Amino acid sequence: MDDEERLLSPKPDGEDNQVEKSLRPRSLAEFIGQEKVVEQLRIAVTAAKARGEPLDHTLFYGPPGLGKTSLSNVIANEMGVKIKVTSGPAIERAGDLAAILTNLQKNDVLFIDEVHRLNRAVEEVLYPAMEDYALDLIVGKGPSARNLRLKLPRFTAIGATTRLALLTSPLRDRFVAPHRLEFYSDDAMCEIVTRSARILGVPTSDEASREIGRRARGTPRIANRLLRRVRDYAQVVADGYIDLAVARAALAQLEVDDLGLDENDRRLLRAIIELFNGGPVGLSTLAAALAEEVDAIEDVYEPFLLQLGFLQRTPRGRTATRRAYDHLGLPFSEKTQPPADEGGPLQGRMF
Ligand SMILES: Nc1ncnc2c1ncn2[C@@H]1O[C@H](COP(=O)(O)OP(=O)(O)OP(=O)(O)O)[C@@H](O)[C@H]1O
Ligand SMILES: [Mg+2]
Repeated sequence: MDDEERLLSPKPDGEDNQVEKSLRPRSLAEFIGQEKVVEQLRIAVTAAKARGEPLDHTLFYGPPGLGKTSLSNVIANEMGVKIKVTSGPAIERAGDLAAILTNLQKNDVLFIDEVHRLNRAVEEVLYPAMEDYALDLIVGKGPSARNLRLKLPRFTAIGATTRLALLTSPLRDRFVAPHRLEFYSDDAMCEIVTRSARILGVPTSDEASREIGRRARGTPRIANRLLRRVRDYAQVVADGYIDLAVARAALAQLEVDDLGLDENDRRLLRAIIELFNGGPVGLSTLAAALAEEVDAIEDVYEPFLLQLGFLQRTPRGRTATRRAYDHLGLPFSEKTQPPADEGGPLQGRMF
């Protein structure tokens, strides 16, 4: 199904992009949750500023919508430097990157989104740039060709990726400070909804904020989207105020269940259970059965289902756990379940 239409997709839609700008935290103090990462960044930023140096090259990885882009902007703000935003697929040729690099000023941030999608030739230019702040050029052709090394200003590269495993190891090694973003706790999600409601001017009770946050799969982008949908519902059905009953009714109408799963998640779990006897089923077989892209399953659906302990990744494929059966109200039989031979939540290929 089309990702754009998915209410609970952690990927941004067109409307999100606009609203997200106004909801994006601007400083570390404003950034809710991810305490460990925020604390490490606070120390790194303070130390780098005191030395008058750029921050170490930093990498953010984790599922979509958890704040990688937001944190990169926050860092540039905190450092008081400019940020140049680009992405792996946007830099097609080595020359494109060279042009970007030579336009940076001292201590600037170069933010590379989807950094796992840089091509090889571009990566080769990035290595010496990150390591020695140097740009290696070949001037001339044939026997008279020679190497020219240009000095670059000292800068900070910040990479973001949902797929750490797809990053080449030389590139990974050059990001001195890798940070993994986790799904947010219910408390943090509640705070995020409360903050967004305040910024958007939506009257909301504390209980309602908690309920919306709790059902947003630990993902701020989804929380903000649910909040907007619930606001619409409240406006039409309940004079605009969002209390717990209104929030619950709106979420029920949107078919977001008690754990934050939507029809697509349930469809995926049901497919494993009903079509493949609970699994294991290979990812590409599952994708074909659901008429989905393999990438969409790995990036969008799986991380949260793994986190909930509804799915397991085994070397032979995906397995639905007893919890998934229970949640769907389907009978579970031990015999149909081969023992899972690998990992619990969040282990596997993605990280
Ligand atoms: N800690 C936070 N506090 C408040 N709002 C947040 C926080 N983190 C993220 N958000 C909100 O969620 C939205 C999505 O975050 P962001 O774009 O930074 O995610 P991302 O990790 O870069 O996603 P992607 O992988 O799709 O690029 C932001 O616009 C912001 O409104
Ligand atoms: Mg982003």
